[in-house]
Amino acid sequence: MRMRRIRNHPMMRKMVEETTLSVTDLVYPLFLTEGENIKEESPSLPDVYNLSLDQLEDEIKEIKGLGIPAIILFGIPDKKDNHGSQAYAEDGIIQKGIRKIKEIDSELLIITDVCMCEYTDHGHCGILDDLGNVENDTTIEYLAKIALSHAKAGADIIAPSDMMDFRVKRIRKELDDHGFKHIPIMAYSAKFASSFYGPFRDTAKTTPSFGDRKSYQMDYHNGREALQEVALDLEEDADFIMVKPATPYLDIIKEIKNHFNTKIVAYHVSGEYAMLKHAVSQGLLDESAIYETMIAIKRAGAKIIITYHAKEIAKWLKEGKY
Ligand code: PBG
Repeated sequence: MRMRRIRNHPMMRKMVEETTLSVTDLVYPLFLTEGENIKEESPSLPDVYNLSLDQLEDEIKEIKGLGIPAIILFGIPDKKDNHGSQAYAEDGIIQKGIRKIKEIDSELLIITDVCMCEYTDHGHCGILDDLGNVENDTTIEYLAKIALSHAKAGADIIAPSDMMDFRVKRIRKELDDHGFKHIPIMAYSAKFASSFYGPFRDTAKTTPSFGDRKSYQMDYHNGREALQEVALDLEEDADFIMVKPATPYLDIIKEIKNHFNTKIVAYHVSGEYAMLKHAVSQGLLDESAIYETMIAIKRAGAKIIITYHAKEIAKWLKEGKY
């Protein structure tokens, strides 16, 4: 077999592509902040901005115009406390943001990250006990409240990222009990305690004031454990399964693809984005490395990719660059 016979002609290469990337595979993260007239570039994520709600109109229209089907929202509240009350407040930044975005465009799908770390003064993803440990079963009660407040404001998909046990089940019950049976849950199932979240934490101001997240996020020495997490979340009725980060964890995506029939989402996180952006801006890599990375994530088995690159990729796809 001469393998090169199918590689000579560009159309032939296109025709035999096993993996493709479509704009409808992409989700763009947005950081919403209190205040007015704020469009502040992240200190560590080039071209990523914290936006006040009055700045959303152009942004949402641009995203929609590019054909990106969904955004995922992160909130930067102006008040934090030990039980993260701004996470479920009716006039919290996310709740206001959802209503505002739906006013601008009712079709764009809004995914909300359900977690407490942006809202707690200690920066952990839940409620602490007297010893400073995140208390699982108390926390999931709060997560249910946060999820419900997002659904009431108009969120289309609820994405818990806290890594507490049984949170999918608890959130599912809360949504079902309040008339939101139709709202899907996108579970961050295999979320690893990763250094690749560093730039996100600078941007969203969520670095924990003490300790780390290793008692709830997964240990990256373990791959098979991710399958256990996924099995449990599916049992608890998760509609989508997420792996996070993406590129250092392609083996996990592939394993999940091989073991389960579910919708796999990969989160190409802030550190992965920052590495590529800086390498491209310094001329060390061509920007096609970004496209190649996305293809690798899809080839491993993800259907959906959450990425800060979504807008630039959408532009390239529109121009027919790839
Ligand atoms: C909230 C959350 C984090 C990210 C998404 N949701 C931070 C964390 O777990 O510390 C990271 C996203 C990124 O790095 O792009 N828990």
